[in-house]
Amino acid sequence: MSSAQEESGTYGAASGEEDQQPLRPTDLSELLKEGTKVSHEKAENTKFVKDFLKGRIKRELFKLATGALYYTYSALEEELDRNKENPAIAPLYFPQELHRAEALQKDVTYFYGEDWKDTIQCSEATQAYVDRIRHLGRHKPELLVAHAYTRYMGDLSGGQVLKKVAQRALHLPNTGEGIQFYMFDNVTNAQQFKQLYRARLNTLELNAKAKEDMVEEANKAFQFNMQVFEELDKIGTTIPDEAQDGGLPVHDGKGDIRKCPYYAAKDAASSGCPLHAALALTGRPEVKAALAAFAAAIAATIAWYLM
Ligand code: HEM
Repeated sequence: MSSAQEESGTYGAASGEEDQQPLRPTDLSELLKEGTKVSHEKAENTKFVKDFLKGRIKRELFKLATGALYYTYSALEEELDRNKENPAIAPLYFPQELHRAEALQKDVTYFYGEDWKDTIQCSEATQAYVDRIRHLGRHKPELLVAHAYTRYMGDLSGGQVLKKVAQRALHLPNTGEGIQFYMFDNVTNAQQFKQLYRARLNTLELNAKAKEDMVEEANKAFQFNMQVFEELDKIGTTIPDEAQDGGLPVHDGKGDIRKCPYYAAKDAASSGCPLHAALALTGRPEVKAALAAFAAAIAATIAWYLM
């Protein structure tokens, strides 16, 4: 049982911490939320995340992403464990509820087999992220909280959407293999837990400068994550397309939708007017080519007949 559960029987509800005070703009939870808004938007809009949300994630890339998360969380959680008595860490130390390294070990075992340690490697961008976490653990442990906040709050929010997308897109078993990372078995109510986490952030005794440093470090954490996404995205372009299961391609909402062949076919078919449908078809290059070939054949027949 973690400190939170020991204190209150269950986190949040019994302790009632999250209901105590109305939030003030100078509270660390509010400063972090506001101060990372732009970074959050950027992270949500990276190509890797956008593609992932649309279900466009190749299995090989998902496996690499899981490996990257394994290295990141192993470093973060080892450093949190080592510094758990530090008063700047203790209130945010929730190993039972949050820690992901064990879940990620199960996921990499599922994807790479029992000898996964010999197979996976820490990428350059992930190594830079890990190095920063290790450095903080040794020299500025209080700033580990910024990294914990950025990952765990995100995992309990948008991460839950990604879980469903990955399961569907990669046809993963509905028993949870491969997506243990996204499953917080000891968090029964994510919303309530996030409220508790925010309340705990606000109990840290930090002056204005220390709060500023925390927001800056959280923005760095977003930056490290985006660098990992960009790296994955680049690797993704070198991985051959995997067979999809025959669904219609998803229009990405950009560009001229009339150029989409599925839109044109649907448009013609839905007009109900056969002339409209025929005219719509004559606009398509392959139909134009067939008509031209047909006209040439007729012209040749007539010429032969007249000779
Ligand atoms: C798939 C794209 C994403 C979606 C759809 C998404 C969605 C959300 C939503 C809806 C919330 C609000 C939750 C709440 O207030 O209860 C949230 C919060 C958060 N997300 Fe994301 N997110 C995404 C990506 C990310 C990424 C890539 C990160 C960082 C690596 C991240 C970090 C956070 C953090 C730290 C919060 C907490 C904000 C706060 O209340 O202080 N998110 N996200």
